[in-house]
Amino acid sequence: MSKNDYDRRHFLGTVSAATGAAGLGLLRPAMAGPVRPIVGDATKPAVLGGAPVRTKRFPSWPVFEDSDREAWKEVLESGKWNRGPRVAEFEKKWGEALDVRYVTATSCGTSALVAALTALDIGPGDEVIVPPYTFIATINVVFMKHALPIFVDTDRRTHEIDATKIEAAVTDKTRCIIPVHLGGNPANMDVVLATAKKKNVPVIEDACQAHFAEWRNKRVGGLGDMGCFSFQASKNLNSAEGGAVVTDNGEHAVVCRSFQDVGRNYHLDGNGDLNRYGKPGWNYARNGDNRRMTDFQGTVLLGQLSRLEAQSQVREQNAEYLAKRLKEIGGVIPAEKYEGTTRHAYHLFMAKFDAEHFAGMTRGQFMKAMRAEGVGCGSGYPPINKEPYMKELVQSRGFRRIYSEKEIQSWIERNHCPENDKLCEDGLWWGQTTLLAERSGMDDIANAVEKIKNNADAIKKAV
Ligand SMILES: Cc1ncc(COP(=O)(O)O)c(C=O)c1O
Repeated sequence: MSKNDYDRRHFLGTVSAATGAAGLGLLRPAMAGPVRPIVGDATKPAVLGGAPVRTKRFPSWPVFEDSDREAWKEVLESGKWNRGPRVAEFEKKWGEALDVRYVTATSCGTSALVAALTALDIGPGDEVIVPPYTFIATINVVFMKHALPIFVDTDRRTHEIDATKIEAAVTDKTRCIIPVHLGGNPANMDVVLATAKKKNVPVIEDACQAHFAEWRNKRVGGLGDMGCFSFQASKNLNSAEGGAVVTDNGEHAVVCRSFQDVGRNYHLDGNGDLNRYGKPGWNYARNGDNRRMTDFQGTVLLGQLSRLEAQSQVREQNAEYLAKRLKEIGGVIPAEKYEGTTRHAYHLFMAKFDAEHFAGMTRGQFMKAMRAEGVGCGSGYPPINKEPYMKELVQSRGFRRIYSEKEIQSWIERNHCPENDKLCEDGLWWGQTTLLAERSGMDDIANAVEKIKNNADAIKKAV
């Protein structure tokens, strides 16, 4: 399978569309497809002509109710479609949920990250520490600031940034660390925060996939100097597109709010609340952008937020069960959590494929066999630090004006993450919608793995 075959969003979309169905009683009935009868030999792998383990679809996404329809209609009929009271209400609720003082909703998670980098005044000549195992946006935003992303290798046990390697990557140019809580699994925040403190470097948490994940009983996003969330369509909290930057730091909050509102002039009032200076209009404090959220998204988020806790619990319970079953079977190794993790958000159920347990078949063969069993999975990210565009970009006219040849060559040489390269070769993912299925759906996944394992030789030869 080529690295482009499984773009994450495509994967989430196809997995839920191809294998999706009702689970919680919360799902749209129209999307709960019929269950095809299981015919054929159930012990024979489906990829070799046997009966598939599962013919029922996994839950579809997104989930909505009549109240969402009504709320949306209200915005429509109000005629006030831009940023308004619904976005403000969502910001208030999200701040309360995370126990952070300031929240600025944005047009997407990428916008939230750009706003946060703007608040830290990240710019040309700066270095920002990032993981290579992430969605491309984490890296894109650094380049957008004409700064250099410095990749710190992945901890293959957890699929998260290897925080113990961050300190060695810090130089006198390091201006920020961006740990990503990938798949909803918190990065090792004890080590990240201790290193950041020791080196006096601020932290922006990329919590875009980690709604309601917790580190030592505190929700992620609120642990670093700033935290960024995405509400893009595949996310556990979804408004098609959308994002938020959260912080307890008033100065950062002012810049973030101002930046996403074309640079308009905001300030903290006597109570420390975030307000706009003077009348709306022609009153600017800085170079900004238009990255505002609309009230349509705000109202969708309020509805989605009301279901997030219940859905998170289902995902968590199913994921724990699936991990237990897979560990008993062997060969598909679930990502571990750090000791400080008190809650995993399970945007993804991440695992590693161990070919030795499967007669040496390739991951591609395994995935094909799983798809045939009706429990398809994705292969996860490619090594994005090796994307050719990055090398081209750092050697482009603009970057050459900022960085010397020696600095550019040094960046290219430092961009080396062997552990991540290996993970990109053996990673496996199931998306969050799969984890919303009934418990037997988890058994279906585990049973399919077991069946493939038991027939590994035949599959390897035939597929
Ligand atoms: C880890 C991570 N960072 C950043 C983003 C960017 O968010 P958005 O797509 O809302 O711009 C995403 C979204 O997919 C993400 O998964």
